[in-house]
Amino acid sequence: TDTTPEIRKGLAGVVVDTTAISKVNPATNSLLYRGYPVQELAEHCSVEEVALLLWTGELPTPDELAAFEAEERAGRALAPQVRDAITRAPLTAHPMDVVRTAISVHGEIDPDTADASPEADLRKAKRLFAAVPAMVALDQRRRHGLDEIAPREDLDYSANLLWMTFGTELTEAEIDVFRVSMVLYAEHSFNASTFTARVVTSTMSDLHSAVVAAVGALKGPLHGGANEAVMHMFDEIGDASAAVAWLDEALASKRKIMGFGHRVYKNGDSRVPTMKAALDRLIAERGRDDLLALYDTLGDAMAERKGILPNLDYPSGPAYHLLGFDTPTFTPLFVASRVMGWTAHIMEQAAANALIRPLSAYDGPEQRHVPQAVSV
Ligand code: SDX
Repeated sequence: TDTTPEIRKGLAGVVVDTTAISKVNPATNSLLYRGYPVQELAEHCSVEEVALLLWTGELPTPDELAAFEAEERAGRALAPQVRDAITRAPLTAHPMDVVRTAISVHGEIDPDTADASPEADLRKAKRLFAAVPAMVALDQRRRHGLDEIAPREDLDYSANLLWMTFGTELTEAEIDVFRVSMVLYAEHSFNASTFTARVVTSTMSDLHSAVVAAVGALKGPLHGGANEAVMHMFDEIGDASAAVAWLDEALASKRKIMGFGHRVYKNGDSRVPTMKAALDRLIAERGRDDLLALYDTLGDAMAERKGILPNLDYPSGPAYHLLGFDTPTFTPLFVASRVMGWTAHIMEQAAANALIRPLSAYDGPEQRHVPQAVSV
């Protein structure tokens, strides 16, 4: 009999390739984008600066940043074909399905669609980064019967996304919480959706196909879909006083508690303290001590019962709720940010490509023969 080779289910612990884009170190609980601690980037940098850092490897000079900001602001409006794809989608479609389709249509009409050079891929990445916020904003608005809001060139990426969604000026504090979430979500090494994008790229397919596939991978609740699922869970629990009993019952019935646990971090997600501090500022501004009590009670009980700590989706879910986003829009916001990381990885994969094609160990029936009696 064949000996079955060692199989690492879910590729757990398997190092697949090198990357210069980010470094996750669970031992020191740190995350670096191109060498910079993510906490420092969240404190000091705009989303636009982080995008350039991830793509080019360096923080931009003031001139480089200004040039990119002008480009980004000019590229925000939706093409008519993309707008139609969004407004014609049934309201029963999940917003992740709508943004997936919108990105696909955006790719079809990208002026560089037939050009796979590194320069063209960078232009495509920049145009996609600029266009996704309008897709997400329009989809939330049409679900409330509201008209599209045009982008504003006087606002940066974060403030403009919020403007296009709500049509009101949010406070500086609110815009800042949103910016922090976008910086923290931007990149996280070989997570499932980024690996998906790299697999697609490895066949020498195109950038938009890789991103569309990555959106599909991100949608699942074991990955990006968890930020939406956290809010559904809070709604289900209702109140801090019900949290511990709810948790015990959920654990007894072997439910996965959304927003907790991580494949790589076992002592806590490096991004959580920064996002929790941002959530705390929002909660204080809104006087929502009830939400804080629920958050803390559930988190403490989960740590006590299972020793499992929150991941980034645990604080970002309620933060997006307090900013006014519909719960099903939370994962599309993750898309808007992770487009930076995905496209950086697509370009890195393409620059030193090897087809990704692993092996499997067959455990089906032994070879057998079709019975003679079977007629054709
Ligand atoms: C993201 O990879 C990335 O970097 C992803 C991400 C990014 O930036 O791209 O960080 C974003 O996807 C965050 C994760 C969001 N998902 C969730 O919050 C869903 C809930 N969490 C999980 O189901 C789970 O923790 C995973 C999927 C995140 C990680 O799962 P693993 O590594 O496959 O671990 P596992 O499921 O095998 O769990 C090990 C043990 C199990 O118990 P035993 O069978 O050994 O007794 O821990 C338990 C699990 O049951 N466990 C949980 C749990 N997480 C782990 N039990 C209840 N609730 C949980 N959330």
